[in-house]
Amino acid sequence: MKDSIFLRALRREATPHTPVWLMRQAGRYLPEYNRTRAKAGSFLTLAKTPELATEVTLQPLARFPLDAAILFSDILTVPDAMGLGLSFAEGEGPRFAHTVRDERAAAALSVPDMASLRYVFDAVASIKRALGGTLPLIGFAGSPFTLACYMIEGRGSDDFATVRTMAAARPDLIDRIVDVNARAVAAYLREQIVAGADAVMIFDTWGGMLGAAAYRRHSLRTMRAVLDALASDAATRATPTIVFTKGGGGWLDDLAASGASAVGLDWTVDLAAARARVGGRVALQGNLDPLVLLTDPKTIEREAHAVVDAAGPAPGHIFNLGHGIVPATPPEHVAALVEAVHRRSARG
Ligand code: CP3
Repeated sequence: MKDSIFLRALRREATPHTPVWLMRQAGRYLPEYNRTRAKAGSFLTLAKTPELATEVTLQPLARFPLDAAILFSDILTVPDAMGLGLSFAEGEGPRFAHTVRDERAAAALSVPDMASLRYVFDAVASIKRALGGTLPLIGFAGSPFTLACYMIEGRGSDDFATVRTMAAARPDLIDRIVDVNARAVAAYLREQIVAGADAVMIFDTWGGMLGAAAYRRHSLRTMRAVLDALASDAATRATPTIVFTKGGGGWLDDLAASGASAVGLDWTVDLAAARARVGGRVALQGNLDPLVLLTDPKTIEREAHAVVDAAGPAPGHIFNLGHGIVPATPPEHVAALVEAVHRRSARG
């Protein structure tokens, strides 16, 4: 497993081709996913049933020669385990029954007992058994700040206005929330690694909406705390880590210095410039616009080639999208993408 193309690329070692995996590779664009989800009854039941989570994790791997599996779960399992009452209203995204917006609610937060997230670690172990050493498995968590966004707002939002006004007026309150989250995320990723995850990724979907000072204080600082905790623990030290701040192109140097093995980039970043700037220090993952997958195979091939060429021949690039696959994506377009990446990057 340590010799897999994906893990070698994370270590910035030479590989026969560029590894590729895709955020949300298991999801609603696959008819077989929708069938399993219907069988489960809901997204949360699907995520909380290890056999079903294993089934959907493997679905994209049966179709496409991807170079890594990613645990099927969600970042919001952690605040759910904190007792905030997660639900997914049909077609509407996540909702929390309780929000964390004041002193009292922040003071009541604590790191959840990892036993309440046992279904996630069981899914990791079950997926590892099913993979039988063929591909590495990526575990993941939300960043402390991105989790706080949902905990404060209680749901997704276009502008996270409650969070941004709180970041200005009560940064101390956000500190309290993200500090608990950082300890929870470190413990959560540790258990995923102990259960068998070969690499772990921190999804910071919303850090990019903060001003620079607030980003450093609430998002970057607490991701570093998670990475430091993993680096100082004998059980997790050797496991590679990926950090991804969507909209974080302006903080590339900080992310490269965060202690992570790799930095994920969204599609707004100039990949060639990023490789020249930090490619000697960290691997880079990205960064095709997921909407390119809505075009046609010729365009997809051309755009995939552009990303592979921008990354250049030096080791340490992992091909991915700049954000998750959208549900309207035709599965054949994903097949065309994976093939284009493998062919264009084939080295001797
Ligand atoms: O990448 C993968 O294949 C692994 C699975 C995965 C899911 N969510 C499954 C999912 C991962 C890595 C996530 C992370 C996640 N979840 C993030 C960070 C990455 C990102 O997308 O920005 C965030 C912000 C969430 C929170 C979340 N979960 C939202 C906002 C939603 C609703 C929006 C949407 O896309 O429907 C979800 C639900 C969700 N998580 C689905 C999937 C496949 C769709 C649920 C369904 O089947 O109806």
